[in-house]
Amino acid sequence: EVWNPNGKYRVISTKPMPGTRWINLLIEQDCRVEICTEKKTILSVEDIIALIGNKCDGVIGQLTEDWGDTLFAALSRAGGKAFSNMAVGYNNVDVNAANKYGVAVGNTPGVLTETTAELAASLSLAASRRIVEADEFMRAGLYDGWLPHLFVGNLLKGQTVGVIGAGRIGSAYARMMVEGFKMNLIYYDLYQATRLEKFVTAYGEFLKSNGEQPVYWKRASSMDEVLREADVISLHPVLDKTTYHLINKESLATMKKEAILVNCSRGPVVDEVALVEHLKQNPMFRVGLDVFEDEPFMKPGLAEMKNAVVVPHIASASKWTREGMATLAALNVLGKIKGYPIWGDPNQ
Ligand code: DGY
Repeated sequence: EVWNPNGKYRVISTKPMPGTRWINLLIEQDCRVEICTEKKTILSVEDIIALIGNKCDGVIGQLTEDWGDTLFAALSRAGGKAFSNMAVGYNNVDVNAANKYGVAVGNTPGVLTETTAELAASLSLAASRRIVEADEFMRAGLYDGWLPHLFVGNLLKGQTVGVIGAGRIGSAYARMMVEGFKMNLIYYDLYQATRLEKFVTAYGEFLKSNGEQPVYWKRASSMDEVLREADVISLHPVLDKTTYHLINKESLATMKKEAILVNCSRGPVVDEVALVEHLKQNPMFRVGLDVFEDEPFMKPGLAEMKNAVVVPHIASASKWTREGMATLAALNVLGKIKGYPIWGDPNQ
């Protein structure tokens, strides 16, 4: 699909993206916008090289693509100056390779913070109240009357939420769980989450002054402390060499037998084979997963586990957010072509 065919700058989007604002922004600035409408979900490096062709000023790409040496070399050969990932994660982008070929890279932080945190909260609730199991039960026509023990789950109020990685998304999730469900908080991060801490402190004071139970919170000195103490644990680290299989057989064994684990970060942060085994051995342990180790696949056995809620990487999938991500991605590429500052430049 081609917009503004006579535009001076050739910008490619490897996928159709929501909304039209991003297209209009590019057109207004004299870009020819080419959108790949290939049916195949995941484009290979060869597919993208073919799209780039001989002349390309910038590319908007997706987290399913492997932006390494080969693609940045091809983009640079075609005169390309900019690449933007339509994602906040950078794990599919080799920033050193981009630097080597003089291609600026950007991402789309900020607009997906609350949306992603809301999905982590939804998975926490779905797992604790067994919503998916109960839905399947209803649809199967198995409900034949109210019973005191039917789909009994956990009350979040007064339990402890554990956040691993208290950056933008982890902190937004923590606020939702503390304020919305009156959970206590324990978090682990290499850095102090100052804004989150100010919030929980002030909120605790507010509850106290209303004669309500205050919120307890603490910054853990190790990840294990969170795993040991929390009832609901949500993972929000970036994926890199240090966080690969952060949750493994040993760390799973450290968690409470009835804990809930939520992952809306990246699949390889969790050793999925170990997780399936743990779910089998511990029927009261529950998990809510938005991401998987080898997307789009799930490890054998996971789909059969009643104590797992699984959704297809939809954490940022709200209309407002996806349109915002597309707009930021367009601005990133445009910014470099036109010499404006760009968002989320990892070199800054
Ligand atoms: C991201 O932006 O990194 C998300 O995973 C996409 O939803």
